[in-house]
Amino acid sequence: MTTTPVSPSLIATLPGHYYTDPEIFRQEQEGLFESMWFCAVRSSDLEGPGAFRTVQVGRESVIVSRNRSGELRAFLNICRHRGARLCLEQSGEVRRSLQCSYHAWTYDLDGRLIAAPNLVKMPDVDRAEYGLVAVALREWLGYAWVCLADEPPSFEETVVGAAVERLGDSASIERYRTENLALGRRITYDVKANWKLIVENFMECYHCATIHPELTEVLPEFADGYAAQYYVGHGAEFGEEVRGFTVDGSEGFARLPEIAEEQDRRYYAITVKPTVFINLVPDHVILHRMFPLAEDRTVVECDWLYAPEVIGSRADVSKSVELFHRVNTQDFEACERTQPAMASRAYRSGGVLVPTEHHLGIFHAWLTERLGGMGA
Ligand code: FES
Ligand code: FE
Repeated sequence: MTTTPVSPSLIATLPGHYYTDPEIFRQEQEGLFESMWFCAVRSSDLEGPGAFRTVQVGRESVIVSRNRSGELRAFLNICRHRGARLCLEQSGEVRRSLQCSYHAWTYDLDGRLIAAPNLVKMPDVDRAEYGLVAVALREWLGYAWVCLADEPPSFEETVVGAAVERLGDSASIERYRTENLALGRRITYDVKANWKLIVENFMECYHCATIHPELTEVLPEFADGYAAQYYVGHGAEFGEEVRGFTVDGSEGFARLPEIAEEQDRRYYAITVKPTVFINLVPDHVILHRMFPLAEDRTVVECDWLYAPEVIGSRADVSKSVELFHRVNTQDFEACERTQPAMASRAYRSGGVLVPTEHHLGIFHAWLTERLGGMGA
């Protein structure tokens, strides 16, 4: 339904209610965020044993924590006794165990039930059965990705596969060694827009010339409206005068040591559906994680990652952060301007995509197929 031609140049978008209907959002929570791999936390945010973060994944709160041997674990943030939320804070550190603040059931850092008041008087209770509910976890690019599905889809196909599809092979992203980079800056954006508007915006560059003056200065080909990301392997080249991926085109940092010659002076953008954007430039990586909280609200955490020496030497990263921070602000403002119109009668049957946006039709087809045509 989503690629119905309006004219040869124009194809239809999704109808407006896809961005406003709580029932469709519920279907997306179930069919996407709770079923696919979801990028939850930067592994280095959990420094030592006992460190934890809680994140919203679809309708569930998930604890990601580090156990005594330093490995990451993920659990549903639900006490097995009577269901109280176990960790109330977004982040913290415990010494050895997670204790429920209601009746004090206590779990070790591998989720095992280790103590509960009067437990010794209930010899028939098998503690092993009342551990925290484990959630599948994989680490990639220095992030913990979790999946709530009973049988998670192949990580290689659905997550790594997105980078391979975009760049042509997996080595191209591995060369940035994102897992070893250090966090230079994190900015959290609370965007009053449906998560799909943010994905669609990221996937097209028809808007670049209008709203991204600084970005098109650095990447002149973006001014033509062709998002580089749908030509396999293509990275947008820096303008001739541009010295680095910075807000004023000034010098950035030394290029990351393992990237290929052809990756120098290029920008690559990758969308890992449903909620992650990866941006690769020679001297840093910018990674967006979206947390869709409601049909009209999405929190986006954006990390700027640099070589450890850059962060260790306290180099000034502000000019490189500022470039994509402006891009983010410009994009998210556009999404927020669009969101209210999704409920308008003028958008009941949606809008149109011009040829440079036609690949968004593939995203729409993917989405409607995953939702099983429900709500269409
Ligand atoms: Fe957690 Fe009772 S609900 S100990
Ligand atoms: Fe943009």
